[in-house]
Amino acid sequence: MDTANLLPPIPLGKTWIRASEGESGDAVYRRSDGAAFAKVSLGEGAAQLDEERRRTEWLAPFDLGSPAVLDWHASSDGACLVTRAVAGVPASDLSASDLLKAWPSIAGRVKALHEIPVAGCPFVRSLSVMFDRAADVVARNAVNPDFLDPEHQAIPPPVLLDRLRAQLPTRLAQEARDLVVCHGDACMPNFMVDPETLRCTGLVDLGRLGRADRYVDFSLLLANARETWANADQPLAARKSLFEAHRIATPDDERLAFYLHLDPLTWG
Ligand SMILES: Nc1ncnc2c1ncn2[C@@H]1O[C@H](COP(=O)(O)OP(=O)(O)OP(=O)(O)O)[C@@H](O)[C@H]1O
Ligand SMILES: [Mg+2]
Repeated sequence: MDTANLLPPIPLGKTWIRASEGESGDAVYRRSDGAAFAKVSLGEGAAQLDEERRRTEWLAPFDLGSPAVLDWHASSDGACLVTRAVAGVPASDLSASDLLKAWPSIAGRVKALHEIPVAGCPFVRSLSVMFDRAADVVARNAVNPDFLDPEHQAIPPPVLLDRLRAQLPTRLAQEARDLVVCHGDACMPNFMVDPETLRCTGLVDLGRLGRADRYVDFSLLLANARETWANADQPLAARKSLFEAHRIATPDDERLAFYLHLDPLTWG
């Protein structure tokens, strides 16, 4: 089955253009008029895409610039989620100096997300759930080495998992004090930015949104932006700006590292 077979029909004169193949194996298409995106999942991936649909619908009314759901189809072959396009370009397309200018606005958007009353969020992305997922991925020998820190690639994943397990009591206690609505996959391609004003326009790819320690988002944001920075000062400025925006006087580096190292074990 080709993912294109699951795309919904569109008015004459418009077409679906393949935009990317997601790391999860989903196919993403952009409508030729630029007004909508379609994400297609085959087979069992459809259940995952349904989770993304529910989260996207839930977040849309909060006015954070996240997409509205325009259409949804699921069948035994797979599923297709159509969302309204968020204006702008992915933050990962910006030069280092433009990303630094856009950064306060991105940090502000994350803060606005984290300020949504967490008790009203029905989606769980807790450490215990994510740790269990990592344990399952590791047990199935399904860790993708490309996602690991280069210095972790030579270490057997069960050893990486055990190192994280040793920190669980501390991290679970911190999570209980710092639970917010997290994006859950806060990498640069998932933040859209107006290339003229360099202000964040919104956030996409909400399949992992849920209640979690706010450091989950800080950790992925800072780590992923490293791919863009062009000198040693920019990451320091970004880190300072992020934690100032979130009113954190002394950032916890070990906690950042914990979530950074857990993340690659949860995909697979
Ligand atoms: N509604 C939207 N508005 C604007 N751009 C979008 C939208 N949906 C997707 N995109 C663009 O397509 C890219 C890929 O989409 P998305 O992030 O949802 O999937 P993915 O990262 O490939 O999927 P996954 O990692 O879940 O498999 C985004 O980074 C963004 O540039
Ligand atoms: Mg994405």
